[in-house]
Amino acid sequence: MRRPSEVDVGFFPTPLHPLPRLSAFLGGPELWVKRDDHTGLATGGNKTRKLRFLLAEARAQGADVLITGGAIQSNHARQTAAAAAQLGWECHLVLRGTPPDIPTGNVLLDYLFGAHVHWVTTREAMHARMEALADELRRAGRRPYLIPYGGANALGTVAYALAVEELRAQSEGRPFDALVVASSSGSTQAGLVAGVRVFAYPTEVVGISVDEPQNVLVPRIARLIQGVSDVLDVPITVALDEIVVEDRFIGEGYARVGTLEREAIRLLARLEGLLLDPVYTARAFGGLVQLIREGRWRRGQRVLFWHTGGIPALWAFLPELVEALR
Ligand SMILES: Cc1ncc(COP(=O)(O)O)c(C=O)c1O
Repeated sequence: MRRPSEVDVGFFPTPLHPLPRLSAFLGGPELWVKRDDHTGLATGGNKTRKLRFLLAEARAQGADVLITGGAIQSNHARQTAAAAAQLGWECHLVLRGTPPDIPTGNVLLDYLFGAHVHWVTTREAMHARMEALADELRRAGRRPYLIPYGGANALGTVAYALAVEELRAQSEGRPFDALVVASSSGSTQAGLVAGVRVFAYPTEVVGISVDEPQNVLVPRIARLIQGVSDVLDVPITVALDEIVVEDRFIGEGYARVGTLEREAIRLLARLEGLLLDPVYTARAFGGLVQLIREGRWRRGQRVLFWHTGGIPALWAFLPELVEALR
């Protein structure tokens, strides 16, 4: 296996622990959580693992400026801005949305880390602006490194394949029956699916789609797995029907907080003192609760929720969340 190099940002291994009160309440499988909401870089999240590899490539290319993009409350953008501050690099973020009068959640942190924030209104404009910024900076004699949306290329995805090795060491010869994770670009899920093959960790990986239908996400995950295979130089074969994506929990769409998300946030907060973010992990955990209620796993099995972070976004969704306090 060919392991790409890493930059040492964030805190690893992340903790792994059981959720006994929640498991008893639901009366199904034993639930555990992998705390990638504690990866560092201003609370953490799944992008920190990916950035470790992407930043190493940037450094090897002699980069001195980072450019990336995302939705207005992008956790990826915030973790990139924090990493850039830590490494002493300039950072440009192209965010999709309307500039807020008072920055909240991740946007507040982006500015606090000194990132240059550029506002656009569409996904196409975001990609075009990122490219244009890279050109401008190159003409000015700088060396920009462009991080793709969500860090979701083959190199970023490798991070989650290697995270399975970390999990294997932590789960002491007793693999979990299933790993459940929020899936948006599909990169985290693709990494985990690749990782369970590479490290012969016998489990099922279930992605709960946050925004894309299964027929879009599954082929994308398959392409990313192929990318991991190429980067690591290890053959990985996964058939399309072995990639499990649940797309029943998308509700009213991306970043639309509904009853499912509010109930999941309240449940974990009240029973385990643990936070979920409103956009990704609350939807994924709400989906997991629903699957448990449908009897997808039985008592005696062990299911791991891979927490992917996003906590700062809680403070950008206050009106939608107030109901969860009741
Ligand atoms: C908190 C959180 N969870 C999950 C995801 C989804 O990860 P991926 O794009 O790798 O599917 C993201 C990415 O935007 C995120 O910020």
